[in-house]
Amino acid sequence: MEKLALAADHGGFELKEILKEFIAGLGGYELNDLGVYAAEPVDYPKYGRLAAEAVASGQADRGIIFCGTGIGISIAANKLQGIRAANCTSEFMAEMSRRHNDANILALGGRIVEPELAKKIVRVWLDTPFDGGRHARRVRQIEP
Ligand code: RB5
Repeated sequence: MEKLALAADHGGFELKEILKEFIAGLGGYELNDLGVYAAEPVDYPKYGRLAAEAVASGQADRGIIFCGTGIGISIAANKLQGIRAANCTSEFMAEMSRRHNDANILALGGRIVEPELAKKIVRVWLDTPFDGGRHARRVRQIEP
């Protein structure tokens, strides 16, 4: 089973809950929800870091993170070595973030992406492999 870490701030809490149920329904994924567990205001950097640490340490294979826009939490996650968090608003972005960037974290904005579109984005992101080849060379150059 592929292990997925989930994390959100209050801006992404509701979408995280919807997608947690959706992904559980797909089967084949072990979900580790790192919070937040209620819609009260919290600071997104903590939750971006929690998911990024889970992926960087190998506790999780990939992660999906949520805040209001997907921006702040993806910036926070991307501070960790080896993390490639992609904030996606379309299925095409999700596909390309996997094929070309080998994104290991998907970020979604709870105030940007409607739940039905978010489900499609997540499905494409989970199902799309990395193309490798010339893209592997480019991805390697990202690391400091
Ligand atoms: C919280 O209000 C909001 O700033 C946060 O969820 C996120 O959108 C930040 O980038």
